[in-house]
Amino acid sequence: MSKANEHGQGLIRKIAGPLVVAQGMRDVRMFDVVRVAEVGLIGEVIEIHGDQASIQVYEETAGLKPGETVVSTGVPLSVELGPGMIGEMFDGIQRPLQKLRTMGGNRISRGDSSPSLDREKTWTFQPKFKTGDTVQAGDILGTVQETSVIEHRIMVPADVVGLWEIASIAAAGDYKVEDEIALLKREGEKDLSVNMFQRWPVRRSRPHAGKKSPNEPLVTGQRVVDTFFPIAKGGTAAVPGPFGSGKTVIQHQLAKWADADIVVYIGCGERGNEMTDVLMEFPELIDPKTGRSMMERTILIANTSDMPVAAREASIYTGITIAEYFRDMGYSVSIMADSTSRWAEALREMSGRLEEMPGEEGYPAYLGSRLAQFYERAGSVTCLGSDGRAGYLTAIGAVSPPGGDMSDPVVQATLRIVKVFWRLDSNLAYKRHFPAINWIQSYSLYADNLVEYMNDEIDPEWGKNRSEALSLLSEESRLEEIVRLVGMDSLSFEDRLKMDVAQSIREDFLHQNSFHDVDTYTTLDKQYRLLALIMHYYELAQKAGRRGVSIRQMSALPLREDIGRFKYVEEMNIEQEYQRLLAELDRQIPELATER
Ligand SMILES: Nc1ncnc2c1ncn2[C@@H]1O[C@H](COP(=O)(O)OP(=O)(O)OP(=O)(O)O)[C@@H](O)[C@H]1O
Ligand SMILES: [Mg+2]
Repeated sequence: MSKANEHGQGLIRKIAGPLVVAQGMRDVRMFDVVRVAEVGLIGEVIEIHGDQASIQVYEETAGLKPGETVVSTGVPLSVELGPGMIGEMFDGIQRPLQKLRTMGGNRISRGDSSPSLDREKTWTFQPKFKTGDTVQAGDILGTVQETSVIEHRIMVPADVVGLWEIASIAAAGDYKVEDEIALLKREGEKDLSVNMFQRWPVRRSRPHAGKKSPNEPLVTGQRVVDTFFPIAKGGTAAVPGPFGSGKTVIQHQLAKWADADIVVYIGCGERGNEMTDVLMEFPELIDPKTGRSMMERTILIANTSDMPVAAREASIYTGITIAEYFRDMGYSVSIMADSTSRWAEALREMSGRLEEMPGEEGYPAYLGSRLAQFYERAGSVTCLGSDGRAGYLTAIGAVSPPGGDMSDPVVQATLRIVKVFWRLDSNLAYKRHFPAINWIQSYSLYADNLVEYMNDEIDPEWGKNRSEALSLLSEESRLEEIVRLVGMDSLSFEDRLKMDVAQSIREDFLHQNSFHDVDTYTTLDKQYRLLALIMHYYELAQKAGRRGVSIRQMSALPLREDIGRFKYVEEMNIEQEYQRLLAELDRQIPELATER
């Protein structure tokens, strides 16, 4: 490393775990990446006092000594964006894990600065413009078929200002990511050489041409989500829940099934074996939409509990920047972070070492604003570029508060930001009711907009059934109280029927087994029909009750079990089975003889 460095260069004064304090760092800027000591550990400046810089180091700091040099690279922490990311697993600062592991045994060697994108690999570029055309930021110069399902769109970099003329553009053919694929020129400006990858600082959101209100559902195939607490494409959601309540399973379900083109999955501070599950499971998984491996549209970012804590903080930004980049191409992208609590703990650890004034539970006062910086990068946008294409970035974070305590600062701060709250309930998990999403305490602020969409697209009765079902469920919890106090016999027929139907909603509709071939995913149409059957039963049963038919008689109908099995009916038989059950309901219930 040259001593005559134009950027900040100083000496280590103090080392405290992942925090290194260096002095003599005169020209360094906040968030600049620095190389620490002879091994060149990668760190980021997070505080400056005079010529003294506090640096969070993304690698194990064991063995460092005061007096060793620290050199600034003069650039902020950035990711490389271009072909070669899909199917990869990166660490929190976008180092390719599989590649580094094969090179250096089972561990990444410290100070390794291998590029994120493979420099030698060639990609087949197909130009979309020709010499003499005028382009602007975001225009798609050409495409690369990155995997069999994802076309990578090579864009004019987002920070290019104004209109530029294409002085030359590469012919269709094979290129490496560093090869120039276009030369742009503009009066009074230096020529701009564009290759197939760009860099972007992770802490800065990528620009777009405007945000739109999210009013299209992100279909997940999970009944409790789509029907009751839906999330919009471009929306934000949190899944808080205690230990073992199903946070990871639901994140995996959404990664597998939600109708996103690209999934960015961040394993953040969780046990290594959960990430191994993802690594083992995702490549095997066949994407239902394409018939190909899930990995052909997935990017993994792993920062498990055994990896350095500071990189955990960065992993969230690395992930969302990559996600924004694919959004900019005009895709629907989902990002899942499991778990944001582990991320917040990393923030707390660094804040403690910086001796900042602690806020609630020792978390820094800026916890809420940092969380907001993450979720605010989600959205439904008009992308840059002259074609005005739409892009979506949906962000879903798991939160794991200690003891499942919802007054936890990370849960509370997250709740103020996200629009959907799927609250996992340990009682439900204990009873093996999965997904253990509590239907009383969960909510979706997109529901009004999305119900309208469902009424138009699926069935005009969608919203009516949904709100009736939700009110039956909340009636049920009120009635349970009464039953506990004075017994079932005190309830009127009407109330007992409500409890009977609510039970059916819980067991036949809400309960959904992620590990069952058919049940793991339910189309919107099937969700509608299943709930419609239950609500149709309710309507007929109310009438029968007025004639004096008892609940016991109606519960004893074998037909009830058929409704319970409807969720296991395969797609091709749904229409037929639905019609059969409707007709049977219409026949059997009115036929019941009066008993009282
Ligand atoms: N939808 C589901 N269908 C069937 N089983 C489920 C479902 N969700 C969760 N489970 C069961 O619950 C177990 C625990 O789930 P999971 O690992 O997702 O919990 P978690 O909240 O991520 O836990 P931790 O706090 O330890 O990370 C799973 O191994 C599985 O057996
Ligand atoms: Mg988990």
